[in-house]
Amino acid sequence: MTTSASLEFDHVELLIGSVESAADANAKAVRNTVLSPRFYTTDFAAMDRLNIEAVRAEWDVMMKEYEGDNNHDHFQRDAQFAEEVKTLMPQLSPEMRQEFLDFLISSLTSEFSGCILYNEIRKNIDNPDIKQLMTYMARDESRHAGFINQSLKDFDLGIDLGQLKRTKAYTFFKPKYIFYATYLSEKIGYARYITIFRQLERHPDKRFHPIFRWFERWCNDEFRHGESFALIMRSQPELLRGVNLLWIRFFILAVYATMYVRDHTRPLLHEAMGFKSTEYDYEVFRITSEIARQVFPVEVDIDHPSFRAGMERLVELSIANAQAKERGGLVGNLLRATTAVQAVWTFGRLYFLPVKRNALPTQIRVQPTW
Ligand SMILES: [Fe+2]
Ligand SMILES: [Fe+2]
Repeated sequence: MTTSASLEFDHVELLIGSVESAADANAKAVRNTVLSPRFYTTDFAAMDRLNIEAVRAEWDVMMKEYEGDNNHDHFQRDAQFAEEVKTLMPQLSPEMRQEFLDFLISSLTSEFSGCILYNEIRKNIDNPDIKQLMTYMARDESRHAGFINQSLKDFDLGIDLGQLKRTKAYTFFKPKYIFYATYLSEKIGYARYITIFRQLERHPDKRFHPIFRWFERWCNDEFRHGESFALIMRSQPELLRGVNLLWIRFFILAVYATMYVRDHTRPLLHEAMGFKSTEYDYEVFRITSEIARQVFPVEVDIDHPSFRAGMERLVELSIANAQAKERGGLVGNLLRATTAVQAVWTFGRLYFLPVKRNALPTQIRVQPTW
């Protein structure tokens, strides 16, 4: 192992923490950190009052698509799946295995987070449009979470979803924050999965696990979920102007920065697919920003040199913070506090970089053509 590879691996160990048993996997899913996916709850009465009449025509077309359920038979493993798991998994290095497990656990937590939120909204409202939408989206997310869990079970690391639902802390978000955050996470989820799928389509020898063959049809579900939130926000124009533009900027940046830092703790995973983490992340940002022009009048400038430098700085600070935590004691605590303040400062500087403005299109929906 070269020095730089071993240094990188040290960072990964510091930031990821290794998973050796089902108990470790479950503990990891329950834990809330700045970087891990969270569970959300919201104001159900406000959700109940939503009126989507302004986008009725596009809404009804979308509902027909959900009803058609073109992925109803997609999330089943074929015989080849088991064969590939048996031959490919023993070939993973221990470091790569840890990164892949981290990827599976964080993806599952994030899928299941959507499942719980949509299900809770469905149960607590009467509004027929929103209730129907939440029923369909919870259906999709429960399939996605279950499918990833099967792959964790291959490693004897299945997550107890009932237990996770009961024990993980919930974060309360007003509906508008749910819309900004969930829209972005659905669209970024699409962009992440399609970027991986296209890459492995070009380089099948780099497909080190069969689950990636499922990503194309899978990410079309995420794309449609994002479309639903785009229609909801466009039906409530006050969410997309005035002071709310500042919130939109905040959420775009928070989602991008979290992803960037998190992905840079998994360099081997991206290398195995033939990517550098930075290159992969900027492709995902580019796709997400293009799609988001359907709904957000502002866009962060991902090609601004200060944006790129700020993202790199956040990765360095995250590593320094993890090292300080490892060190412990008074000095460790002081160093942790310092890096935390520096991270907030860096985030603030990123926030005040100039943004690009978009005029919103009359036709809201876009097609998943990436
Ligand atoms: Fe999903
Ligand atoms: Fe989704």
